[in-house]
Amino acid sequence: MNKVVAVMRKYLMTFFVAATLAPAIPAMAAEEGEPAPPHGAEWVKEKAQVCASCHGKAGVSQTPMYPTIAGQYESYLVHALKAYRDGDRNNAIMAGQVQGMTDAQLKALARFYAKQESLLHIPELNP
Ligand code: HEC
Repeated sequence: MNKVVAVMRKYLMTFFVAATLAPAIPAMAAEEGEPAPPHGAEWVKEKAQVCASCHGKAGVSQTPMYPTIAGQYESYLVHALKAYRDGDRNNAIMAGQVQGMTDAQLKALARFYAKQESLLHIPELNP
């Protein structure tokens, strides 16, 4: 076989394999190895600073415009946050706040606010 043709074949084969695999690579990365978005204590602390600008420090609102979220049931907060993210609750401000967050991140925020001191009276449901 002509040497030039052989080299070209090899080159084309490499190109073909790369072109075939390339679209699969990001999908594989998402399934394996790629670290989950952060939702640990540090992340929550950082995020909570943004929330605080409306909901008050540690979720105790200083103005009737914004609901107090401190001390609310964790399950309720998760539900509400998911509803804003997924469009089941229609509020442009809150939708923007939680856009793109994972379930784990919303849960972490809910857990944090549920634990904060509050004037809300929340009866213990599952003692
Ligand atoms: C720019 C102001 C603003 C910021 C920042 C903000 N929120 Fe809100 N939040 C609101 C408003 C306004 C509402 C009421 C929306 C409605 O009428 O549904 C609300 C509602 C909520 C509710 C529902 C409360 C309930 O009793 O149903 C939760 C939970 C909540 N916010 C959590 C958060 C968290 C967590 C963050 C930070 C990631 C955050 N918010 C950031 C303005 C804000």
